[in-house]
Amino acid sequence: MADKPVIISDENSGKQLELPVVRGTAGEPTLSIKSLPKELGYFTYDPGFTATASCSSAITFIDGGQGILRHRGYPIEQLAKQSSFLEVAYLLLKGDLPKASEYAEFERDITYHTMVHEKLNTFISGFHYDAHPMAMMAGAVGSLAAFYHDRLDMNDPEHRMLAAKRMIAKMPTIAAACYRHHMGWPSAYPKNRLSYTERFLDMMFSVPAEDYEVSEVAARAFDLLFICHADHEQNASTSTVRLVGSTGANPYAAVSAGISALWGPAHGGANEAVLNMLEEIGDVSKVPQFIQRAKDRNDPFRLMGFGHRVYKNYDPRASIIREAAHEVLADLGTSDPLMDLAMELEQIALKDEYFVEKRLYPNVDFYSGIIYKALGIPTSMFTVMFAIARTVGWVSHWLEHCENPTPIGRPRQVYTGPAERDYVALKDRG
Ligand code: CMC
Repeated sequence: MADKPVIISDENSGKQLELPVVRGTAGEPTLSIKSLPKELGYFTYDPGFTATASCSSAITFIDGGQGILRHRGYPIEQLAKQSSFLEVAYLLLKGDLPKASEYAEFERDITYHTMVHEKLNTFISGFHYDAHPMAMMAGAVGSLAAFYHDRLDMNDPEHRMLAAKRMIAKMPTIAAACYRHHMGWPSAYPKNRLSYTERFLDMMFSVPAEDYEVSEVAARAFDLLFICHADHEQNASTSTVRLVGSTGANPYAAVSAGISALWGPAHGGANEAVLNMLEEIGDVSKVPQFIQRAKDRNDPFRLMGFGHRVYKNYDPRASIIREAAHEVLADLGTSDPLMDLAMELEQIALKDEYFVEKRLYPNVDFYSGIIYKALGIPTSMFTVMFAIARTVGWVSHWLEHCENPTPIGRPRQVYTGPAERDYVALKDRG
């Protein structure tokens, strides 16, 4: 049965307005407020979009209360266990799991586009060696429009899909190039006989002087982490990509903006911040002291890797990654005191009234850094790993937007500045 509209009465004007209830295939009912300014003369005020759906989308569903995440209907737990990153990429981009022949063609396509124009390496080499890799990524990806402007007709579906595939294919190559520039190592080229994650690891760590064999444990762990980071509906960076896309800007510009949004510590930068925080805590005995700081309203310190705008339950990706962190450490035959510290921190926080009451649970970033660290990824590259994986989500949302465009994203504001006043000449200002 269809929902009845919600009727709002405006006591100021004596008018009433029926607002239709919009329902998707799952999730909360949503009020369509488009007619509000025209009919009643009001805008709505929702800083941070805590109560606003900016678009409709068929890609990812989250039920934050229940801790559910599904891509195109498939639970993240099943994808993490049974699928691969490239297959999830196909699913997010195209809407369904591929048949074997479709998967083979997709893998071939992505593999074909892994190289970057040689001048892009020259471009990256222009950065200072100690530039943050996310700064280099944002610059390098934005510059792709200058290298691949041959196929940038946004009204042509083939051009759009090519741009999407190019980005998924080239992101690991660019990420590795940024790392190698920082290290002062010569360029490494993609070896297309390797899988997506093996190829990335090879480009990251192989050096001309030594033989390098990609560890199977590492490639598998990366594949899992990339699946867990591939998409997460209208998060800050994806909304940024959609917003930039809504202006008609090219997808490389949109994804570059997404990378910049992801960098913030409240978003993807949290994985780097978690590791820095664990290192700062240093010892299990200091955990209560840091928990106390996180609860202190006058202290800007927050427990990084904890809390989420949408999840008010355990982030399902955090459970998958925590289990994987144990497996990776066991497979590598190592242990990491930071893992013990993280688990202790989690245990104490989950029992603490403050965290319980505010429903703050570990999120995707809480354990991912421990795996990256175990696999030799430097802390400053953690958010870059997130960016490689999330590129799939960004381009899927950008494609969805292009197929079903919303008007240019243009929020309104509540103006709080001075009322109109007259200009006073400089000499008369006293
Ligand atoms: N430590 C301590 N207190 C917290 C934390 C935290 N990590 N997160 C939220 N709170 C408190 C917050 O101070 C607020 O308290 P009060 O109601 O007294 O003002 C309450 O919980 C609600 O928090 P909020 O800031 O209104 O929630 P939000 O939805 O605006 O923010 C968040 C979500 C993820 C930005 C926030 O939880 C946070 O800063 N977490 C730490 C950073 C982090 O781990 N980010 C990664 C997010 S998941 C991956 C991704 O999206 O990229």
